[in-house]
Amino acid sequence: MKTLKDLFLNELADMYDSEHQIQRALPKLAEAATCEKLKKALTSHQKESEGQIKHLDEVFASAGAKPHGKTCDATVGILKETHDLVAHFKGSPVLNAALVNAAQKIEHYEIASYGGLHEWAVLLGNKKGAELLKNILAEEKAANDTLTALARSTCNPEALAVGATVPSVGTEKTTAPQPRPSMEHAPKSTSKAPVVAAH
Ligand SMILES: [Fe+2]
Ligand SMILES: [Fe+2]
Repeated sequence: MKTLKDLFLNELADMYDSEHQIQRALPKLAEAATCEKLKKALTSHQKESEGQIKHLDEVFASAGAKPHGKTCDATVGILKETHDLVAHFKGSPVLNAALVNAAQKIEHYEIASYGGLHEWAVLLGNKKGAELLKNILAEEKAANDTLTALARSTCNPEALAVGATVPSVGTEKTTAPQPRPSMEHAPKSTSKAPVVAAH
């Protein structure tokens, strides 16, 4: 009968492989990015992944097992989609928005995986492993937050600006429904009456 520890080691091996795949892919993705801030974020994430692999070695040791990987098909799939995006949007700043989002898909996969592994380490009484996994989980969440901030401040607005034209006034007819007049939403003051009452 398979045990919770078997499941723990199975998923740990999945993440061990996932981190290796990510570490190998990140330099290419950083090279493809044309936004300096994004390049930096992807490069620093590669270094972080290196450290996480070392911590996973320790998690294996804490569970009395040798470090080993098992092909993470989810990471294979996300990275394949990411490389397709690079080919499709190359030459446009839209690519940076695509890359941030692709990196976030990886982060969310990692957050879910390390979240589960941490819970199981606690249940299995593996304090050392639980502590290490908690730290990795915190790093993944922080990396995701950094990417969200980068998307909002830079990559998404720059992507939105591509091909944007200023609409010429008076040449376009609007077909949007007009708002119904309502006292509730009427401007507070539309009269030309003096704002300050006379004494
Ligand atoms: Fe990671
Ligand atoms: Fe990550």
